[in-house]
Amino acid sequence: MTSLTLRTPAKINPVLEVLGPRPDGYHELRLVFQAVALYDELAFEKTAEGVALEIPESPVPLAADDSNLVVKAARLFLREVGKARGGVRIRLRKKIPLAAGLGGGSSDAAATLRGLDELFQTHAAPGKLLDLAARLGSDVPFFLYGGTGLGEGRGEKITPWEEGFEFHLVLVKPAAGLSTPAVYRSGKACFTRGDRAGDFRRILRQEDLRGVADHLFNGLEPAAQFLLPETTELKESLLKAGALGALVSGSGPTVFGLAEDAAQARRIADCLEGDGRTVVATKAVSTGIQILKDLS
Ligand code: C5P
Repeated sequence: MTSLTLRTPAKINPVLEVLGPRPDGYHELRLVFQAVALYDELAFEKTAEGVALEIPESPVPLAADDSNLVVKAARLFLREVGKARGGVRIRLRKKIPLAAGLGGGSSDAAATLRGLDELFQTHAAPGKLLDLAARLGSDVPFFLYGGTGLGEGRGEKITPWEEGFEFHLVLVKPAAGLSTPAVYRSGKACFTRGDRAGDFRRILRQEDLRGVADHLFNGLEPAAQFLLPETTELKESLLKAGALGALVSGSGPTVFGLAEDAAQARRIADCLEGDGRTVVATKAVSTGIQILKDLS
C-alpha cells in the first residue's frame, strides 16, 4: 500500500465523573465516551524517511511541528512498531474544533496509529496500539474503538459497550477555547463516587432519550463554567431552544444539546448561530476510525 485515507470522529462525554486527584498529577475518572458524526480526515503517503504534516485549509493556525499530537503519534509508531519502514507524509483536514472538549487531537493521534499500521502492514497487536495511544494522551485509546465505551483510570482504560443508539445532538463551541490542564487545576471540579455510568448503561440499552437527558453529568462542568461563563449561557440557550438536556463536553468549552430528531437538531443549531461560535447538528454513531480509500 502506498497511500491511505481515513476519517476519525469527535466524541462527547454524556457522563464524566471525577473521583479525585491521583499521586501522578492526573485525576481518577469514570466516564462514558460517545463517538459523534463529525470527522477529521487524514491521508497518509509513504516517503523515504521522516514525518511531514500538512494541514491545508486549517480554520485556525495549527502547529504542524513536533508539538502536534499527530506528529508525536507518527514518530512514536515509527520508533516502536514500524522501524526501518521509511517515512510518511500526512495531510490532515480538520473539521473538529480545537481545544473544544471534543477529543479532536486525540482522535487524530489514534487515527495516525491505525493509519500507519495499515499503510506499513505492520499488524501491531491491538494491545500495542492501545499502549502507544495511552502514552500519547488519556483520551486517545477510546478512538481506537469508537462507538460507545466506559473509560476508567485517567480515562485511558476502555471497556467498549454494545449499548448505544443514534441520538441527535447539537454541538456549540464558543469562539474561545479552554485548556484541559487549566480546567483540572481550577479547583472547581466536582468530585463524585463514580456510580452514574452503570445507570447510564441501562438507559442506553432501553434507547431512552429522555433518560439520557435526565442522566447527563459532568464533574468538570463547574470548572469550565467558572473559567468561561459563556458556557453557562450556551447551556441555557440550548435548553431554551428546545434541547431535551445540555452539558459541557469533557473539559469544554463545547456544550452539547440533545434533540428529538435530525430536524429539531437543525432548528436548535439555527437558533445558536452567531458570535463566532461553531455550531454543528450531528448524531451519536456506533463507528470509529474508518478507511475511506487505499491505493495499493
Ligand atoms: O492525558 P492528557 O495529556 O490528555 O491530559 C492533559 C492534562 O489534563 C494532564 O496533564 C492533566 O493536567 C489533566 N488530566 C487530569 N486527569 C485526567 C486526564 C487529564 O488531571 N484523567
